[in-house]
Amino acid sequence: VGRSTGSGDRGPSGSAEVRVRAPGKVNLSLRVGPVGPDGYHPLTTVFQAVSVYEEVVATPAPDRTLSVSGPQAEQVPTDAANLALRAVELVAARTGIDEGIHLHLHKGVPVAGGMAGGSADAAAAIVACDALWRAGLSREDMLAVAAELGSDVPFSLVGHTAVGTGRGDVLTPALARGEFHWAFAVQDRGLATAAVYRAFDARAATTAGTDADDTARTGATTHAPPVPDDDDLALMQALRAGDSHALGRALRNDLQDAAVALDPALAETLDVARRTGALGAVVSGSGPTVAALGRSRQHALVLAAAFTAAGVADRVLTATGPVAGARLVGGAEGP
Ligand code: C5P
Repeated sequence: VGRSTGSGDRGPSGSAEVRVRAPGKVNLSLRVGPVGPDGYHPLTTVFQAVSVYEEVVATPAPDRTLSVSGPQAEQVPTDAANLALRAVELVAARTGIDEGIHLHLHKGVPVAGGMAGGSADAAAAIVACDALWRAGLSREDMLAVAAELGSDVPFSLVGHTAVGTGRGDVLTPALARGEFHWAFAVQDRGLATAAVYRAFDARAATTAGTDADDTARTGATTHAPPVPDDDDLALMQALRAGDSHALGRALRNDLQDAAVALDPALAETLDVARRTGALGAVVSGSGPTVAALGRSRQHALVLAAAFTAAGVADRVLTATGPVAGARLVGGAEGP
């Protein structure tokens, strides 16, 4: 989205195929306020896009259809429930374009893993429709469609490192220097985001000793996102300095305890990362993927190997961050 960094960003004109790559994310910090009347939680979060990608290939078709490949593909709906097909419908409605499209999703990001794979598909679908249909959507149009689809979709478009407020969809770019090296412990069975937020609510109610009345009463004044505190400042400073040790110490996730309560084995996964010298380890978003920050690319590989050896992951990934958001990749000539 936005600036084109070279002619390779645009498929050859007249090409009947459009390819888009969109990254997964890790939340470096995720702070969650009490649930609001709309059922959403106000957030203050710092996203980083990482080099784990969804690849979407769009081709002209009579109808609007979808196919999926990659690990866990069988867990992904191919009907109208799929966020990528909803993105197609929204772009069509917004532009008045009455065209078909076939999207093939190749999933690299864990499914229901807390790394926004579904959001990345939706972001990629927006970019793909725009290109294939020559719809001429502005960046603002794309972001508006994205925000309608889900809280993490705008970030999948924007990429890099950004602070998210609201539902996570109101974004401010963050200054980040250098490259960070991640290892991810992936589980075959994902966690439903809504279920993790419900577990968060249940735990918050217990800890605070509040009842429904208290929640209703205090809720009226606490729907703003959590205000930045010293830990947030330390995180932003670590990013500006490109200091992975400080970043490791600053990682945090308010949803982590809820995710661990729903999937207790994650406690051991986090422990394996710490025992292997991770600079920090955190559940990614609503989980169950665990993200561990390495000292180097090599150390990230060591962390991934430790997850495998300990038997705490169904699959492991290594990646670097930050990377760009959803973008066209070369057509016939390749990325
Ligand atoms: O926005 P999205 O559809 O991705 O969110 C999925 C679910 O996660 C929502 O239905 C809601 O239950 C929960 N959620 C939340 N607060 C947020 C974002 C998501 O409670 N800020």
